[in-house]
Amino acid sequence: MSVNIDWNNLGFDYMQLPYRYVAHWKDGAWDEGKLSTDPNLTMNEGSPILHYGQGAFEGMKAYRTKSGKIQLFRPDQNAHRLHNSADKLLMPPFPEDRFIDAVKQVVAANHEYVPPYGTGATLYLRPILIGVGPNIGVAPAKEYIFDVFAMPVGPYFKGGMVPTKFIVADQFDRAAHYGTGQSKVGGNYAASLQAGKFAHEHGYGDAIYLDPIEHKYIEEVGSANFFGISKDGKTLKTPKSPSILPSITKYSILALAHDRFGMTTEETKIAITDLDQFGEAGACGTAAVITPIASITYEDHEHVFYSETKVGPYTQKLYDELTGIQFGDVPAPEGWVVDVPFN
Ligand code: PLP
Ligand code: COI
Repeated sequence: MSVNIDWNNLGFDYMQLPYRYVAHWKDGAWDEGKLSTDPNLTMNEGSPILHYGQGAFEGMKAYRTKSGKIQLFRPDQNAHRLHNSADKLLMPPFPEDRFIDAVKQVVAANHEYVPPYGTGATLYLRPILIGVGPNIGVAPAKEYIFDVFAMPVGPYFKGGMVPTKFIVADQFDRAAHYGTGQSKVGGNYAASLQAGKFAHEHGYGDAIYLDPIEHKYIEEVGSANFFGISKDGKTLKTPKSPSILPSITKYSILALAHDRFGMTTEETKIAITDLDQFGEAGACGTAAVITPIASITYEDHEHVFYSETKVGPYTQKLYDELTGIQFGDVPAPEGWVVDVPFN
């Protein structure tokens, strides 16, 4: 490795890398796209992304294996979710095969920045799709930019795989049931800033949202989905809601829990007053990976799960299986990992 980075102490911060991929859509078609060394995007002041939030993004990672290879985890799922987000905001989708190719190009061009195996760090990729061009009325853009940039990252929550406290932000909603909650669009995150600030100022890792209709059922964390494991370790449940992000990590955990550990899995409503059914709980996502939930504070009561300091055995087992697959130590289900050639 010729780049000088303290891989073991990376946070989740922006770092400008040499290459990103940029493509433009105009007059009904995407151009051929290419790698660029310019980290700045130029756009008209009337661009719909700037005023009306017409834009979507993805979050995914490239992993260095023990043998030095680089692999992606389920990039087809990110390509597909961005397509769905594009449909929701009336944007032209970026073709899913080209999405995967663009991501591979960015990883290969920046391969020296994919952290070494064993550091726990990864190369985080941020594909974005935004509406640009002169415009002022509320209407879909006539031009679009698709960009994929990347940076090496460490854990999203402090310490990574350590129990983290969360608080229910009952005075805030993240998204409405028939709104954009299922799409990975900027507005959902703008709407989460106040709740995130509230949680951080009170010493919590992040906020947990309740359903926007009754304020009774867990939705998700501002940056990750929620799962709970029964005390006997036999059942894993995740919230079912039309306004949460369909987490690729969550669906991977559901599949591994069921197919590899013989657990019963269920997507169902989970009442915030029914946390006692769980022995362990976690937040899951690309950035969060699996972050054990130490406790959830709701209406001045702190509900502690397995332990405030120790990771529960079932959470640990799922974490080891998931990250084992991602870093190439554990055989992956068919199609889950994709090699990135580089030289
Ligand atoms: N929920 C929210 C709000 C997120 O931002 C993320 C991150 O992408 C997730 C859940 C987890 O989704 P995934 O596992 O696909 O990264
Ligand atoms: C991700 O996990 O990739 C996300 O996009 C979450 C984000 C809030 C950092």
